[in-house]
Amino acid sequence: MRYSDDIIEEVRVKNDIVDVISQYVKLQRKGSSYFGLCPFHNEKTPSFSVSPAKQMYYCFGCGAGGNVFTFIMEYENFSFGEALKFLADRAGVELPQIEYSKEAQAQANLRSSLLEIQKAAASYFYYNLRRENGKTAYHYLKNRGLSDETMKKFGLGYSDKYSDDLYQYLKKKGYSDELLLESGLFQADERKGIYDKFWNRVIFPIMDVNSRVIGFGGRVMGEGTPKYLNSPETKIFDKSRNLYGLNIARTSRKKQLIICEGYMDVISMHQAGFTNAVASLGTALTSGHASLIKRYTDEVLLLYDSDEAGVRAALRGIPILRSAGVKSKVVNLKPYKDPDEFIKAEGPERFEERLSKAMNSFLFIVQTRESQYDLSDPQGKTDFYRDIAARLLEFEEELERNNYIEAIARKYGVGMEELKKMVNQLAMKGTAAQNYSRPREVRKKEGTRESGVEKSQKLMLTWMVSYPQIFSVVEEFLSPEDFTTPLYHRVAKMLFQQARGEGINPAKLLNQFMDSQEQSEVASLFNATLHLESPKEQKKALTDTMIVMKKASLDHQIANLAPDDMKGLQELLYKKKELSNLGEQLQSLNISFE
Ligand code: CTP
Ligand code: MN
Repeated sequence: MRYSDDIIEEVRVKNDIVDVISQYVKLQRKGSSYFGLCPFHNEKTPSFSVSPAKQMYYCFGCGAGGNVFTFIMEYENFSFGEALKFLADRAGVELPQIEYSKEAQAQANLRSSLLEIQKAAASYFYYNLRRENGKTAYHYLKNRGLSDETMKKFGLGYSDKYSDDLYQYLKKKGYSDELLLESGLFQADERKGIYDKFWNRVIFPIMDVNSRVIGFGGRVMGEGTPKYLNSPETKIFDKSRNLYGLNIARTSRKKQLIICEGYMDVISMHQAGFTNAVASLGTALTSGHASLIKRYTDEVLLLYDSDEAGVRAALRGIPILRSAGVKSKVVNLKPYKDPDEFIKAEGPERFEERLSKAMNSFLFIVQTRESQYDLSDPQGKTDFYRDIAARLLEFEEELERNNYIEAIARKYGVGMEELKKMVNQLAMKGTAAQNYSRPREVRKKEGTRESGVEKSQKLMLTWMVSYPQIFSVVEEFLSPEDFTTPLYHRVAKMLFQQARGEGINPAKLLNQFMDSQEQSEVASLFNATLHLESPKEQKKALTDTMIVMKKASLDHQIANLAPDDMKGLQELLYKKKELSNLGEQLQSLNISFE
């Protein structure tokens, strides 16, 4: 499926980036740009900029950047296609009918019908809770301390005592049995026919990050088994890729997300002001959850129940999070069973206090290992230290490893040097680490600190975009080949082409980069900081940059020359010599930055 470049560009042009972003972020004009608090990372002073001229945004704090499509994709968590539709609707552009394959069309229809059904069911349950028949359910929730506002915020509902009222309701709306069975809301058997899955339960709608209902949980009121019933996985409900409460928590603007086990935990934390809580709903945390989390934060607090199962869940979750690049800390809720109980008994301030005492996840692991050994026995103690030493070995960075060695030595009263020695001995043997192979953290590539040449190329791109009128001068001395970094080269090629044709248009150029990582990087190319005061300084900087680039480009060509190409080498060396004249030539040029 692919829309034409023209229609994509039409949609982009009709959605002014300042208008669109203003709907999400409070922006203030400063010079030729607008500034606000970045929605993609937590900050107190605005470093998020939106340029009406470039039709791009860029955050100087976290490096997020792109055009209006990128913004909607990132903010709403949409695919490119979804962002395009959203913005087309917003601007009243009618998208041409794309030729789907029959099957793809059917799948898309099925998904949207299933979403429609969940939505209809959610309103039905919601309405039930608030009428006479729902009184018991309403009082049950009230007794558990939930306010009307909280019930509304989470869309809580009630499934009535009849065995097929939801079925009848949806039938009247015209849905086929086949479709209803795919919704996960019904069961069927030969004797009873099709009947409601949820029956006389309080209902928790489960939403995706865009607040679309994708499934339900239902709790018995009081005792009874099973305590919770949940929708099965369907075409629209993937349990390993959704977190309960994330649709709200993602906008909480807190540094961390809180991960807990259950519906009631999330709801009572939100009610107490901890609006960054989400739950994996009784299922174990998966790598799908972890990468979902990573989109919003790189640090979480684990608030699992204070029982053995909760400890196991934390131990299982920590490495999964870590391999997605998410750090975790573990919160101890004892003597209470879960966050809901804790808050009810001790209140939000005490709760906050516990959060601030969260334990480093490595130390948490060490602590749970401790209980496996008899430390009063010399052998047990040795085994315990060996166990820990092997785990310490997993920290590849010496400084980090030493910090942990120090912390453990202090906590367990063992000599730091001895522990270090033990770790080193294990390292020599070279085997230990395999037993506890730690997933590699997602790290920045080695050597990502930009070189002077890269920086010059980046500056040049920013100049060309900010002052299109200098192109005629730039073009005389530079060509896209002088941008030697591959991505920069690609961008320069497009920019030169635009400048020679329809005119420089960075936001349109970004349409060519679908991957949001790439988009951010390209956006950063157009937003290098130009600390320049006077036009004279600007001119000097521009000409210096050209010379640095030209020299690097010639060196690059020389390095890539065939070893026997003496003639080529001579030419290139001659050009290098010429560079000293270029400086003077450039100085005499009439360049205007207005
Ligand atoms: N769960 C489930 N099925 C069950 C029990 C639990 O799906 N039979 C899931 C639910 O998502 C539940 C979570 O696991 O929210 C945590 O379970 P539990 O701690 O037993 O429930 P609480 O959330 O504490 O609910 P409550 O306070 O109502 O007891
Ligand atoms: Mn619980």
